[in-house]
Amino acid sequence: MRELEGRRLVIGVTGGVAAYKTAELVRLLVKAGADVHVVLTEAGARFVGAVTFQALSGNPVWTDLWDARMSNNMAHIDLTRGADAVLIAPASADVLAKLVHGLADDLLTTLCLARDCPLLVAPAMNRQMWEHPATVRNVAQLREDGVTVLGPDAGDQACGEVGMGRMLEPELLFEAVAARFQSKLLAGRKVVLTAGPTFEAIDPVRGITNSSSGKMGYALARACARAGAAEVVLVSGPTGLPAPWGVRRVDVKSALEMRDAVLAALPGADVFIGVAAVADYRPAQPAEHKIKKSGEALALTLAPNPDILAEVAARPDAPFCVGFAAESRELDAYAEGKRRAKKLPLLVGNLVQDGLGGDDNEVILYDDAGRHPLARAPKPAIAQRIVEHLAALLRARKG
Ligand code: CTP
Repeated sequence: MRELEGRRLVIGVTGGVAAYKTAELVRLLVKAGADVHVVLTEAGARFVGAVTFQALSGNPVWTDLWDARMSNNMAHIDLTRGADAVLIAPASADVLAKLVHGLADDLLTTLCLARDCPLLVAPAMNRQMWEHPATVRNVAQLREDGVTVLGPDAGDQACGEVGMGRMLEPELLFEAVAARFQSKLLAGRKVVLTAGPTFEAIDPVRGITNSSSGKMGYALARACARAGAAEVVLVSGPTGLPAPWGVRRVDVKSALEMRDAVLAALPGADVFIGVAAVADYRPAQPAEHKIKKSGEALALTLAPNPDILAEVAARPDAPFCVGFAAESRELDAYAEGKRRAKKLPLLVGNLVQDGLGGDDNEVILYDDAGRHPLARAPKPAIAQRIVEHLAALLRARKG
């Protein structure tokens, strides 16, 4: 997870309320080790001051094409020399139009012309401005010119309207930038994952579930998206986690719903990763109405749930299947036993006391070549290692 370390990034900030979110984005990028240089337009500086960006980036902030602080007086050239990318966030309708026409009437637009690194834009504007034919044309042209357009998102707008035009949240922009510098181990692949617990209804307000935060599954989905997978579908049981950037999440509750959603997402999948803690049983007959207490003992009849992973792995057109096993003892024997029983090329095993609910995990990978212990690390780093391992196996398998 060191892909941003030492990267030189130029962040352009144009006039938009969303500029306050860019302050957080700069903080995240700097925290990840990037060398961030902020260029404010005149309008941008009206929303968030240079002092804030200077403090967050630890570098001087630039606004003026004629700034004499640059020794050769060529800020528009020097800022992008050796830069790994320029990201304009927020990108106003005005700057998009200028970029399309190659206008260069301030520092930001001039340095965008005088660059040979990738340009990313995160548009932010009122819904009508976004939908205006001129903006639609401009965005299409920018894409054609090789500019990466990130978002926008739909939702409440500062003007009080609701619709497309909100800038993507800083965390998502951070992901999008980081993903650019990640090796594309899963380029062109479609990945389907399950994550989180399932919830099996007893009556309309009660149910049985497994203990699972969903963190490992979400971290893996995110790692797959970062590794350049063409499509990542995350079939998720109830968790409080946001969908990672580049991941399509399908929300489900029960194991039966999870199975249906997996089968629907499966066509064209190259990889299936079962991370979910699927309940092995469900109440055979959930009550239609809330069960009233009576003081008597209550017996529940449970019916077995389908084993989603085993079912996918047994298909004649099975994708590369990865399983998880959380055990409380005898990890090697149980994990390898599950891998063989379900005919999986790869299984990730861990002891419940090592990973459940926490932010770190310690796992062992089991494949045909044997066991590969990974050192204890945060779940996103473990996810990255798993993706590297499975991508290598996938490459070997497909020749
Ligand atoms: N799995 C699944 N569908 C189920 C149960 C499990 O897809 N109904 C998947 C999990 O996502 C995980 C792996 O299978 O990848 C776990 O294997 P399993 O043997 O089912 O684990 P446990 O349910 O923990 O088994 P046991 O209770 O026997 O230890």
